[in-house]
Amino acid sequence: MMSRNVIDALWNVLSEQGSAWVVGGFLLALLLLRLSPALAGVRARSRGALLLTGLHLLLAAASAGALVLRNKSMASDLHLAAAIAGALSLVGSIGLIAFDVLLARLRANVPRILQDVIIGIAGLIAIVSTASHAGINLTQIVATSAVLTAVVGLALQDTLGNLVAGLALQLDRSVRVGDWVKVQEFAGRVSEIHWRYTAIETRNWETVIIPNSVLTKAHVTVLGRRTGEPQQWRRWVYFNVDFRFPPSQVIDLVTAAVRDQPIEFVAARPAPNCVLMDLHESYARYAVRYWLTDMAPDDPTDSIVRTRIFFTLQRAAIPLSIPAHAIFVTQDTLERRHEKQVEADSDRIEALAQVDLFRGLSHAERAELAGHLQQAPFTRGEVLTRQGKVAHHLYLIRKGCVSVRVADGSLQREVAQLRAGDFFGEMSLLTGEPRSATVVAAEDVECLRLDADAFRSLLQRRPDMAEQVAKVLAERRTGLVATREGLDEEKRKQLLATHESDLLGRIRGFFGLAQ
Ligand code: CMP
Repeated sequence: MMSRNVIDALWNVLSEQGSAWVVGGFLLALLLLRLSPALAGVRARSRGALLLTGLHLLLAAASAGALVLRNKSMASDLHLAAAIAGALSLVGSIGLIAFDVLLARLRANVPRILQDVIIGIAGLIAIVSTASHAGINLTQIVATSAVLTAVVGLALQDTLGNLVAGLALQLDRSVRVGDWVKVQEFAGRVSEIHWRYTAIETRNWETVIIPNSVLTKAHVTVLGRRTGEPQQWRRWVYFNVDFRFPPSQVIDLVTAAVRDQPIEFVAARPAPNCVLMDLHESYARYAVRYWLTDMAPDDPTDSIVRTRIFFTLQRAAIPLSIPAHAIFVTQDTLERRHEKQVEADSDRIEALAQVDLFRGLSHAERAELAGHLQQAPFTRGEVLTRQGKVAHHLYLIRKGCVSVRVADGSLQREVAQLRAGDFFGEMSLLTGEPRSATVVAAEDVECLRLDADAFRSLLQRRPDMAEQVAKVLAERRTGLVATREGLDEEKRKQLLATHESDLLGRIRGFFGLAQ
């Protein structure tokens, strides 16, 4: 009997409260959300609506319980609370459908904070009208109670300040989600503009919470933003060079090095450049300025640029500056230089002995050739020879690995990898044709380079080397043709034999050597 009463009372309360609408609205919103792409912030809102729907049902059940127990005043209080929770749940569900389903479908860009404010105001109206439906005039109570107004006003002062500031930020779009900003000592990406705060995620994986009212008063630098230009941010990479080296030489070298081969995240326009920043007591201060296209990898990109600078200067035998207080003792330096020269020479003679091509030379011949060798270090990704360009050097690899690539339409196809002990760049020197391939450093590479004249005069003095060079040359030529034309092994062999005799004849003819 008792349970029958409870069920009847609950049924009455639920139908009076229009709970079917509340629950139905929430379920409809959930269903539509499932069919739409997930948006940020939707979870929090649907959780809010779920809570309110649950609260509404709970309060309605409690009110029915109070009715059965004949506690009328409690039943009517709970009834009102259930009605308010139900009205708020309906507002939440309608908000979800309107903003997160319909507007998202239409791709209308209504700031999140504005959506929250609209839902908040609708919620307030729902509370006031539900209460007045039950005979309670909330607006009058709030207006006539000075103390209540003061307390609420004071409590809301900061929150309202933040809310208005957040709204202003989103409406004038001065700071947007996804922007990289610098506020006080914090720099990072804006991940969220909430109604109370703006969250910035730094590169150190921290999230800095800045109240919106602070943000509107502070100086905010938006990184990489310039009207009408793509998002890119200028960076400075400093280095010092002994001022005895002409700045024009340093600037030209370094500018070419950073422009020559694209670096990831470095914009092509404006192109990177090198400038002389200052002249100090014993050194000149330079900077490479480049535009970073992705704000996140700032230090790694600086590091690649710095490495390029380092290797370029090393190749040109331009040392980075030594501290100004270093003392030069002339006598010592001369001796030291001599020692260093002897060391370097024997090192190069040793290097020549490691290369197949020069193994047959006598020590004296190698020593003579060593005088024409120059150190040429390259960093990973740098181009050592470019297909189609005029040749000036023969390269001997001492350390590291290079990739030999030929252009195949717009693609670059690798035809070989060469390592320590190999040489390259001989084809153009021997035939006078442009470079047949582009050679790129696959890792940091140490090369010695021999100038064209020294190589040619060596061949003239040692005609027996022509045969060996012709062999390598024919092998490589055949490799290039085989890659281009996709030859099978049989055809490859035939072509190799033809190339070998043809090249030997041509080399001998070119250098006027006996046939
Ligand atoms: P050169 O044409 O002067 O410049 C590019 C160099 O790449 C070329 O000389 C050769 O030394 C080298 N090269 C070209 N094709 C090959 C290949 N198939 N295998 C190995 N090295 C090659």
